[in-house]
Amino acid sequence: MHVPVLVKEVVRILDPKPNQNFIDATFGFGGHSIEILKKTEPEGKILAIEWDPEVLNLAKKQIMKKYPKYIKRIIFKQANYRQIKKIVKEEKFFNFSGIIFDLGLSSWHLEKSKRGFSFLKEEPLDMRFNPKIKLTAKDIIKSLPKEKLEEFLEFFEEKEAKKIAERISSSKDKIETTKDLVNILRDIKTNKKHPARLVFQALRVLVNDELVNLYKGLKDSLELSSPGARIILITYQGLENKVIKKVIKEEKEKIEIIEKIRPTKEEIKKNPRARSAQLIALEKKNGKMEQN
Ligand SMILES: C[S@@+](CC[C@H](N)C(=O)[O-])C[C@H]1O[C@@H](n2cnc3c(N)ncnc32)[C@H](O)[C@@H]1O
Repeated sequence: MHVPVLVKEVVRILDPKPNQNFIDATFGFGGHSIEILKKTEPEGKILAIEWDPEVLNLAKKQIMKKYPKYIKRIIFKQANYRQIKKIVKEEKFFNFSGIIFDLGLSSWHLEKSKRGFSFLKEEPLDMRFNPKIKLTAKDIIKSLPKEKLEEFLEFFEEKEAKKIAERISSSKDKIETTKDLVNILRDIKTNKKHPARLVFQALRVLVNDELVNLYKGLKDSLELSSPGARIILITYQGLENKVIKKVIKEEKEKIEIIEKIRPTKEEIKKNPRARSAQLIALEKKNGKMEQN
């Protein structure tokens, strides 16, 4: 099952106190939120945003079983965190002390979802976090012109972008499953351990429009936050870091960077998913903008 990354650090930085409220923008199975709820008794609430309806249902069931006393302090919202402004308004959840974004996908997506997130499995090439998203990974492969695919892979710093785009383009009618895609890339020497790793990651980001979600979600989170509120982001790939850097540059009057942390060797040993993780903690400043 999903083991949350950098949990102790998240709790130390958010420093939850009794009755404080927090937003978990990527609730998943609630690994971070449960630790926060332990510190915010008796009344502190979590606004739990999760885009994937299947994950949210499973998470609710799991929490009901393992931590029934916390259920009434969690407000579950099946939604894209890109809509955070609308969600906060709907729930009148304006009084919060921090937000956490634990980006990307959970171990459940790779191991159990059957949606083709893992290049090690034989599954349909779907990769959608939410069934309402129009195009699956397979649809994108079939409809994206070769040049656009190459451009996108270059953006991900794939050194064999041209070769990979050509291969995919010339066999696109035969690609239905993860294995079909892996097989056509098998002999390509890339800058990653497995030639399909970056292609799978890039397709997932494209299908779910992840970079735009992050840009908008973070910008709006800053707007919603009161001075002193903290925003924690856990990233798993370079482009997420680039988006965050861009927002920090644009909003430098409003943000202070509190900490940047990588998981310890011990954590990575216990939880290999932590290997590429980076945590960045921001604090909303008490600047001029807020005083007006
Ligand atoms: C790394 S997991 C979070 C794990 C969680 N912190 C835990 O401990 O269980 C990321 C989660 O964010 C969800 N997600 C991805 N994009 C999202 C978005 N735009 N809005 C809301 N949830 C999203 C995914 O479905 C996934 O469940």
